Amino acid sequence: MNASNLDRRAFARLFALGGTGALLGHPRIRELTAAPTAPLRGRGREVDWAAVRSRFLMPEELSVLNAANLCPTPRPVIESVTGDTDRLDRSPLPSIRSEMHGVKRGTRELLARYLRADPGEILITRNTSEANNWVSNGLVLGPGDEVLIFSDNHPSNNLAWKAKSERFGYTVREVAQVNPHPGSDYYVAAFERALTPRTKVLTFTHLTNTSGDLMPAAELCRIAAERGVITLVDGAQSFGLLDVDLSVMQPDFYSGSAHKWPCGPKEAGVLFVNRRVQDRFWPSIYSAYAGETELARRHEGMGQRDEPAIRGFGRELEFLLDIGRPEIEARSRALADAAIEGLAGLDGVKLWTSVDPSLRAAVVTFQPGALDPSRTVEALEADGVVAASRGGQDRPGIRFSPHFYNSFEDVERGVAAIRRYLRAGL
Ligand SMILES: Cc1ncc(COP(=O)(O)O)c(C=O)c1O
Repeated sequence: MNASNLDRRAFARLFALGGTGALLGHPRIRELTAAPTAPLRGRGREVDWAAVRSRFLMPEELSVLNAANLCPTPRPVIESVTGDTDRLDRSPLPSIRSEMHGVKRGTRELLARYLRADPGEILITRNTSEANNWVSNGLVLGPGDEVLIFSDNHPSNNLAWKAKSERFGYTVREVAQVNPHPGSDYYVAAFERALTPRTKVLTFTHLTNTSGDLMPAAELCRIAAERGVITLVDGAQSFGLLDVDLSVMQPDFYSGSAHKWPCGPKEAGVLFVNRRVQDRFWPSIYSAYAGETELARRHEGMGQRDEPAIRGFGRELEFLLDIGRPEIEARSRALADAAIEGLAGLDGVKLWTSVDPSLRAAVVTFQPGALDPSRTVEALEADGVVAASRGGQDRPGIRFSPHFYNSFEDVERGVAAIRRYLRAGL
């Protein structure tokens, strides 16, 4: 039995024994009641998740299980963004404007530290969609070239490559996703078979937003590099959740958004560009106010930016680094384990996400019997649970994506609601 099972069962036992007195003393209840200024770590240096949760503004009775879509931002970062915005608007002095133009440097350094890369390999974009599109715009490809995509990639990746193939004349080939996750070896072999001497680019999603499949990123980057194929890893669902180490993964490009798992401001994102491909990567935008490194001078001339958001992005990364990357990953995984265990025990639920922790992380999708996905999300919202739905014929259902700010009660509330709907209808 893992730690999360213990947590959930201990909690259920406390409920069974009854009595708010017992419950209030339980560590999971204390999680919800810490002061917003309590230190993030206890005396033994362990993370105090109650203190972490207290930095967020959501009311206790709202269980936000939707990190794969949009994460809440903690109070100190909101204060930084609104404080800087306020200052810029009250005193739009040249000295303050030039100070704000300088904030990219600090955020770039933090991004490099966070992803274990070099500041000279980091671009600050507006989100993953933009980062992915900079790559599909910026490589010189033409007739005779092939781009290999994964069918479960996001439209900002697959739609972009397909639309641009019509303009530039290259061919797009696709490796199909398989559900349930067939294992890392399956995908390594499938991509290896699909690579041809004409393949110039291979792009896949590190952790899919559909079934929450974790792809063997380092292996896929390795087989591509051995063949001189450029890799774009879409990290929208892994950046801020997993303890990503780009020095180990070794992609050519890696993209991410601040507003998803990192819990940063909206309209800020990252594109890692490996030094080895920088001379083959053309800018998408030419304008004023470029960044301070050689790479950023070429690519970040994007005109006026939301610099308070860029500084806030850096502050958020400091917050995550204070908590700890491994700690965040372990906490989110434990919450997802609890969701999977609870959902797997419900009659009628079909999990699209693998139960094997090595093939997933904290994106959990499932079909709740014959219940309509969008109506189920409405019912969940009415019951204080925020989730996402997926319609259509391909793996329809509900997505729970818990993150480090959640408590085990949040997960329990989501699972209990699904149990009720399955029994009594919506
Ligand atoms: C895998 C993946 N890539 C890209 C995106 C696009 O992210 P953004 O809207 O931040 O550009 C998403 C959004 O859900 C995603 O899940």
